Amino acid sequence: MKVGFIGTGWFAKTHAAILSEMDGVDVAAFCGTTIEKAEKEARNWSNAKGYTNVDDMLEKQKLDAVYICVPPMAHGEIELALIDRNIPFFVEKPLGIDEQPIQIARKIEEKGLITSVGYHWRYKETTNKALALLQESKAGIAVGYWMGNMPMIPWWRDVDKSGGQFVEQTTHIVDLLRYLCGEIIEVYAAYGNKVMQEKVEGTTVADVGSVMMKLKNGMVATISNTCILKDSGKVGLDLYLEEGIIELRNEHLREINGKQILEYKDQVNPYMVENKIFLEAVKTGNPEKILADYKDSLKTHQVTLAANQSAISGQPIKLGV
Ligand SMILES: NC(=O)c1ccc[n+]([C@@H]2O[C@H](COP(=O)([O-])OP(=O)(O)OC[C@H]3O[C@@H](n4cnc5c(N)ncnc54)[C@H](O)[C@@H]3O)[C@@H](O)[C@H]2O)c1
Repeated sequence: MKVGFIGTGWFAKTHAAILSEMDGVDVAAFCGTTIEKAEKEARNWSNAKGYTNVDDMLEKQKLDAVYICVPPMAHGEIELALIDRNIPFFVEKPLGIDEQPIQIARKIEEKGLITSVGYHWRYKETTNKALALLQESKAGIAVGYWMGNMPMIPWWRDVDKSGGQFVEQTTHIVDLLRYLCGEIIEVYAAYGNKVMQEKVEGTTVADVGSVMMKLKNGMVATISNTCILKDSGKVGLDLYLEEGIIELRNEHLREINGKQILEYKDQVNPYMVENKIFLEAVKTGNPEKILADYKDSLKTHQVTLAANQSAISGQPIKLGV
């Protein structure tokens, strides 16, 4: 199976390294913003070639699947070129910074194209454990966090390029909430600029924010984020149930019942799992095991856009789900 990459940055390298460990998968092409970057990355993988133009890459090589690992503002034309040629794709979150993904989702649906989105929290064993616990006990309220430092890549701090922290990063927690507890029907957000605008030139993203949400099942949730810390801090989601508390973090799930705490850890890398499942779906033509396809991920994206809109208008936003 020949796989191409669009983007030559951190996460294209991460996925390519995972794919290179799989039998029968050939990392075959990289498309970057300059030929130097694309060829430099291609040299790390035997047989791979570098390109600066997506159409050029797709015409010169017969690719079975493509990974899109570009910054949020660079989405759109890439997806449309792949849909036109019926090439299945894996795209890193977020889907973009605006509503263009709605049009893209429609075209994917028309073609019945296999897609997968990098919401890797869905593939964690601890997430699966949380799903099982939620079968046994009713959740009332959820509190989520992405408390961290600012990634020092220039596009990230520019709200017109990244969409801001809630769209770019905290989207993982919004998606986890949707996956575990169901659809979000109303959003109200308050954002602020406390530290980073004065500290890092070119910062236009809010550096503190809280988003309150109503869910279709009657639950209430709040997800807060900040990028003012010096290091990464608390990232995850807490669910408060009749029977206790479920605490989900990158590194563990804790089931808290009074003084009793049970802790579970992931044994398998969820990035490996999402990649295996996507490539297996491409190979067999059966997308059944993909947990976050483009259509479903669009709903997460729309929640994060609504939060941005609410923070600007000061009004709650209702979502049609
Ligand atoms: N799922 C996760 O856990 C996870 C982790 C890290 C990053 N990501 C996501 O992956 C995406 C990329 O992040 P990154 O850390 O690799 O960023 P990065 O800045 O390291 O790399 C982005 C790359 O895209 C290239 N690029 C930009 N516009 C392009 C275009 N039009 N065509 C081709 N290449 C283009 C840049 O030159 C760069 O090589 C982001 O959306 C980010 O949110 C996801």
